Amino acid sequence: MAIVISPSILSCDFADLRGELAKIAGADFAHVDVMDNHFVPNLTLGLPVVERIVAASPVPVDAHLMIAEPDRWAPAYAEAGCASVTFHAEAATAPVRLARELRSAGARAGLALRPATPVEPYLDLLGEFDMILVMTVEPGFGGQSFLDGTLPKITRLREAIARTDADVWVQVDGGISRATIERAADAGANVFVAGSAVYSAQDAAAEVDALRSLAQG
Ligand code: DX5
Ligand code: ZN
Repeated sequence: MAIVISPSILSCDFADLRGELAKIAGADFAHVDVMDNHFVPNLTLGLPVVERIVAASPVPVDAHLMIAEPDRWAPAYAEAGCASVTFHAEAATAPVRLARELRSAGARAGLALRPATPVEPYLDLLGEFDMILVMTVEPGFGGQSFLDGTLPKITRLREAIARTDADVWVQVDGGISRATIERAADAGANVFVAGSAVYSAQDAAAEVDALRSLAQG
């Protein structure tokens, strides 16, 4: 299974986006957290900034939309060149229709689940998505502690994917660090988002490499 490292720029210096993006050139994606202060109690950035990040990033952009009404807003992120667009199941009206729209705009389609959102309703629809994001903290803020209670959900999801012939990635986001990444990998995750772990490290590039080798086991 591909091991994919997607550092979150939420914890970077937003006054130097280009320089901060350059530090993660050794990663697979740049994870960009879009928050609208409705779906989550925090506000970050929107489409005009994401368009500039797509242009400046040395790696493809993995957009995580923590927004209300993703059916209305998410396709524009795919059209802006994000390689992967993930929206929340709790916010979407028609997740399958939206995933199809994202794919037809050329992006990978991701479905995100808050820690308390069950994965079971989506297990018969796995082929409609390229990635399922199991949030390992409540979405909204960086720097929170990894919730071990989400591990069984990751395992149930990975087992369900194995019963299909779909190549669906399982992403984890929240509290991923050298201390937790192996637990998430052992449970069945293969895409790892890390914000504070990467951007609070002395050497962000070395931290990406360290996380990758721990995840590879
Ligand atoms: C939180 C965001 C995360 C955040 C993770 O809602 O979705 O991507 O940046 O930050 P850390 O890795 O610090 O938990
Ligand atoms: Zn995120």
